[in-house]
Amino acid sequence: MLSPLDSSIVCRLPRVAIIGAGRVGSTLAQRIAEKNLADVVLLDIVEGMPQGLALDLLEARGIELHNREIIGTNDYADTAGSQIVVITAGIPRKPGMSRDDLLKTNAKIVVEAAKSAIAYSPNAIFIVVTNPLDVMTYLAWEATGLPRNRIMGMAGVLDSARFETFIALELGVLPADVKAMVLGSHGDLMVPLSRYATVNGIPITELLDADTIERLVDRTRNGGAEIVELMQTGGAFFAPASATSLMVESILLNQSRLLPVAAYLQGEYGLKDVVIGVPCCLGFGGIESILELNLSNSEREALHISAQSVRKNIERSQEILAATSSI
Ligand code: LAC
Repeated sequence: MLSPLDSSIVCRLPRVAIIGAGRVGSTLAQRIAEKNLADVVLLDIVEGMPQGLALDLLEARGIELHNREIIGTNDYADTAGSQIVVITAGIPRKPGMSRDDLLKTNAKIVVEAAKSAIAYSPNAIFIVVTNPLDVMTYLAWEATGLPRNRIMGMAGVLDSARFETFIALELGVLPADVKAMVLGSHGDLMVPLSRYATVNGIPITELLDADTIERLVDRTRNGGAEIVELMQTGGAFFAPASATSLMVESILLNQSRLLPVAAYLQGEYGLKDVVIGVPCCLGFGGIESILELNLSNSEREALHISAQSVRKNIERSQEILAATSSI
């Protein structure tokens, strides 16, 4: 028999709370636990669902050789003391739904989730994944009052991974050897920086002609829609979960990886009071620094157009939130 000894030292492993146990949230829980990064609390409003998913993931622990705790819950109190909170809660766009409908529904969900989560984890770093991503990150920043280094959105890592995949497929090289950076908002107005994309240091402009690069850029812009079109029911979740877990890893292990992240800008790139994808170093402090690249005129213009569209939707969602709270 094992006899436990008395110990007054309480030492807990890092904990990540995931709000929203849909396909992105639950796949992220799996990635984080199986990479041995942290214990996971998976929260959803649907009763029984996160509990069932957590139990399913627990039952795989012996096979996957890890011992991370995975809790499924409907109660924010169970997320207490998390180092990182990831918000994936919200609805995806369905056929016939306007962008306003999505904005309206998800704005309320994200604001409520952010407020509830910060009440139990006041020191956490927040990563927002819910769409429309840049707008939702702004609303969560506003709702929590967090300093800007502790709140960010995931999109650029996913968009860059897609661009890298299409370059690798075109050239027939190892995807991990391709490095690319996609800035701007998560949507049609994203800004893939082709001239900075390389295969092990060799610019893709040396390897592919301009028309081919443009075709790959277009496919990247439509990366999410291409998958929705194929699946018909729902959208991407494997790559979005991988992209989010990369950000979680860089923060928890203080890796200082330079990643494109949706960040609140205060003058960088000539942009203020808006959330948009820019290169950031992620470590223990969350966003530890923002890199200001020397952009060409057309890249800078594209980034500003992207930011203008985010700003318009921020204002729209603030109006919607104000109207619903005064009813
Ligand atoms: C996509 C969704 C997750 O781009 O925004 O697939």
